[in-house]
Amino acid sequence: MNPTAPAETPGTHAARPEGLVARLRDRTRDLHREAERSGILRELLHGRASRGGYALLLRNLHPVYTVMETLTELHAGDPGVRRIAMHELQRRDALASDLRSLAGEDWEETLPLLPEAGMYVVQVVTQGRRFPGTLIAHSYVRYLGDLSGGQVLKRLLAKTPGLGPEALSFYDFGDDVDIEQRTASYLTAIEAAGQDVAPRLDEIVEEAAEAFRHNIAVSEAVLEAVKAAVQAAG
Ligand code: HEM
Repeated sequence: MNPTAPAETPGTHAARPEGLVARLRDRTRDLHREAERSGILRELLHGRASRGGYALLLRNLHPVYTVMETLTELHAGDPGVRRIAMHELQRRDALASDLRSLAGEDWEETLPLLPEAGMYVVQVVTQGRRFPGTLIAHSYVRYLGDLSGGQVLKRLLAKTPGLGPEALSFYDFGDDVDIEQRTASYLTAIEAAGQDVAPRLDEIVEEAAEAFRHNIAVSEAVLEAVKAAVQAAG
């Protein structure tokens, strides 16, 4: 569902599951709005992206996906996590490939890892170790963001000079039909995961809010870093 719309828009999302998904949407609706309007994401949405700014965003998302996906693999047999461990959604290799194309083989050395991304990584790892079910929240926030808003961004980014398909595989989940199916089956998986860990849904819902806050912090920090680099160059 569109997080900016009321929870029960008649006719539009009737087939969507309720339960954990409904709670996640409800809890993160305002944060989603905030994320769209934050830092580098706002710039991207207004078509003010630069190749360098986009590369810096990806560089700072890469370690987040790496820990999220590694921990998900590690806990793929755990209740809840086993429902959402879907390899076809994994993004870390696509991110690394886009980064190689944008910034060369040595992107890990040349593009800075910002403290805000480090804090996001720490959040995923510490909470994931404490309760692997929190990975459901982190996966919801990132993968559904990539499958939904990511597709809007992809179309905008494709118009940016220097950003060809070889730099945009991060948002590539196949054609519109594939994306619709993947979104629907991921939402179903999250709903089933919620049933597996039903007594701890509150923790998962709060973790999703945390994940949004970290995304907002990273988005703000990336924009600040881009501005600082522009100032230093000029
Ligand atoms: C940057 C601009 C963004 C735009 C334009 C955008 C747009 C959208 C749209 C249109 C949908 C939903 C669709 C539907 O009706 O199914 C959606 C869903 C979603 N977005 Fe975003 N989004 C953005 C950023 C983000 C960010 C930064 C995150 C989190 C990191 C995020 C997380 C989500 C999630 C989790 C959903 C799924 C909601 C659900 O179906 O439960 N989005 N977004």
